[in-house]
Amino acid sequence: MTFLSDEFPIFWRKARGSNVWDVDGNRFVDLTAGFAVAGAGHRNPRVVTALRQQIAQLLHGMGDVHPPEIKVRLLERLSEISPFPDTRVILANTGAEAIEAALKTARLRTGKPGVIAFTGAYHGLTYGALAATDRELFRVPFEDQLNPHVVRAPYPHPFRPPSGIAGSDDIGAASLAAVRRLLDGPGGESIGCAIIEPVQGRGGDVVPPDGFLSGLAELCRARGVVLVFDEIYCGLGRTGRLFACEHEGVVPDLLCIGKALSGALPIAACLGPADVMDSWPESTGEAKHTSTFLGNPLACAAAIASLSEIERHALAARAGQEGVRFFERLQALTDRHACIGEVRGRGLMVGLDLVRNPGTRKPDPELAGRLVTGALRRGWLLLAGGPDGNVISLSPPLTISRALLDSSVRMLDDLLLEAVASPSPAAD
Ligand SMILES: Cc1ncc(COP(=O)(O)O)c(C=O)c1O
Repeated sequence: MTFLSDEFPIFWRKARGSNVWDVDGNRFVDLTAGFAVAGAGHRNPRVVTALRQQIAQLLHGMGDVHPPEIKVRLLERLSEISPFPDTRVILANTGAEAIEAALKTARLRTGKPGVIAFTGAYHGLTYGALAATDRELFRVPFEDQLNPHVVRAPYPHPFRPPSGIAGSDDIGAASLAAVRRLLDGPGGESIGCAIIEPVQGRGGDVVPPDGFLSGLAELCRARGVVLVFDEIYCGLGRTGRLFACEHEGVVPDLLCIGKALSGALPIAACLGPADVMDSWPESTGEAKHTSTFLGNPLACAAAIASLSEIERHALAARAGQEGVRFFERLQALTDRHACIGEVRGRGLMVGLDLVRNPGTRKPDPELAGRLVTGALRRGWLLLAGGPDGNVISLSPPLTISRALLDSSVRMLDDLLLEAVASPSPAAD
């Protein structure tokens, strides 16, 4: 299942801040933050201290029966940062599991099975989440077992608008019109949930046009549809605000977070206001939604410490400021390299959309692959993202130094110059 090649993988031995060392002692700068997890830096010292203290106390509890005290402390902390006035939280062990909790909550709240999900979406690979995820690679073998009540709306991707809204002058409005058609069309009355990433991560660092998310929220509110924002990738400071939805001042009905929540250990959460979350029936002896490791004490300790670090170092604001500078420098590369179709993103969540031909915008995954392996040889960890694998996706730790960000731009410039000097046989 795992991708292997002569160049891949390196085996990690240790990490600190923005650096990772492999088993051979080579040091790499991690421009991925380990899948956008190490927001407060790899092995953040305060997270490590919190874990040490927790190890000395309790490693495992009985999450929904006799919960560890630290689980309560994390829930209180999440309530403090939550955008909702009276917050309820369902903890999860992975992002996909938090999405499952959100989908179940929406079902309970509305009694309706239908879900609107968007093109290019990535919500995880468990069955409920996979049904909302839009990537053939992951779906095809399981298509006949996926929730048939999920319908797909076009995500307003400004550079690569999906069919249905391509050619429109205002793709945000066109996408909203498509959502409205789904809600008003045949079967629309059975839709009770809409799920969306406010900024798409694995879809290729896509920021929707201003006004789109608030328009979507308005539409959902008017129809009683539960709106779920999946901020598992873009949340917790990455885009320059604690939550990406703050850029537009939109508050969803449910909000999922994960990845950078603990910065290290597997934990995620679905947050919502009491009036939505209290749709869960009161337990009569058995929890209706739980798991063995629910509220694992180590993961909770890491999450509390990691959230404090994000706050203490104002990492959201830092991501915003450094992100602007980083973006400008990357943007300057477009003048020098026609193969960069677009630089896009928000904060320290930036994508370089590589094209074979600037006119046709045909994606160039082969070039992206060469950049990833070329960077690896020079000591930089990069990932290629987007549905076509042609987007160099940059999501460094929010603590990364300005000097490293600047040299990463020089590194990309060099690699792109090299690529032009030895074009791939497939290039046209
Ligand atoms: C936006 C988004 N949602 C959900 C997930 C799934 O999270 P996990 O891999 O922890 O299950 C991811 C993972 O990349 C993600 O980017």
